[in-house]
Amino acid sequence: MENENIITMDGPAGSGKSTLARNLAQAVGWSCLDTGAIYRAVALVASERGVGLDRPREAGELAAGLDVRLYAENGVTLTVVGDRDVTGLLRTPEISALTSKYSAIPEVRAALMGLQRRLGAGGRVVAEGRDMGTVVFPQAPLKFFLTASPETRAHRRYLQLAREGVPVGREEILEGILARDHNDSSRETARLEPAPDAYIIDSTNLSAFEVETIMIGEAKRVFGI
Ligand code: DC
Repeated sequence: MENENIITMDGPAGSGKSTLARNLAQAVGWSCLDTGAIYRAVALVASERGVGLDRPREAGELAAGLDVRLYAENGVTLTVVGDRDVTGLLRTPEISALTSKYSAIPEVRAALMGLQRRLGAGGRVVAEGRDMGTVVFPQAPLKFFLTASPETRAHRRYLQLAREGVPVGREEILEGILARDHNDSSRETARLEPAPDAYIIDSTNLSAFEVETIMIGEAKRVFGI
């Protein structure tokens, strides 16, 4: 039987998903599955190996064969491909833009489906991404869809990157966010949209603490934890 102990967290870039998924997972004692990191690893390796966007079948094969593993360490997801820690390479504007494009390739999405389901199979997981509630874990009893205005999301991403020491301008971030919004919500496969039964939270005027409080309340109500 499919494991029912899954919370999904979907939403656009910079909506605060990653932080909230981590905090919620910690609050309920579950683990966090950052599926964006998997897509980013695929984009990184595909670009390094010269598998272009015009070669969808090969990109899908690369995704299917990629030995990618995620480790939680001090509240950060470490992404390891083979025996190489690629964490520090995944969040640049270049890789963000490329990932948005590679993740629109149906062959890549199909190849990563099984991996994501296997990683969630043990349950007690907060799965974070774009299509967790709609495609990968549609049976999850609790689904969140987090959103915020593009300007708010750009500002948060700016602060996050500044903390991580990635030098990027605010304008560049907003442009990147708008472009990715467009790619993510206009693609044919697994378009970014809330599941019909998702709890939608617009966090434009809410602090992370306020959103987290709502989420923990829902998790208690649904799972009794
Ligand atoms: O959540 P993130 O910013 O790390 O995601 C990076 C990119 O990967 C983003 O453009 C959307 C894509 N993505 C996806 O299509 N499906 C997922 N489940 C997770 C991420």
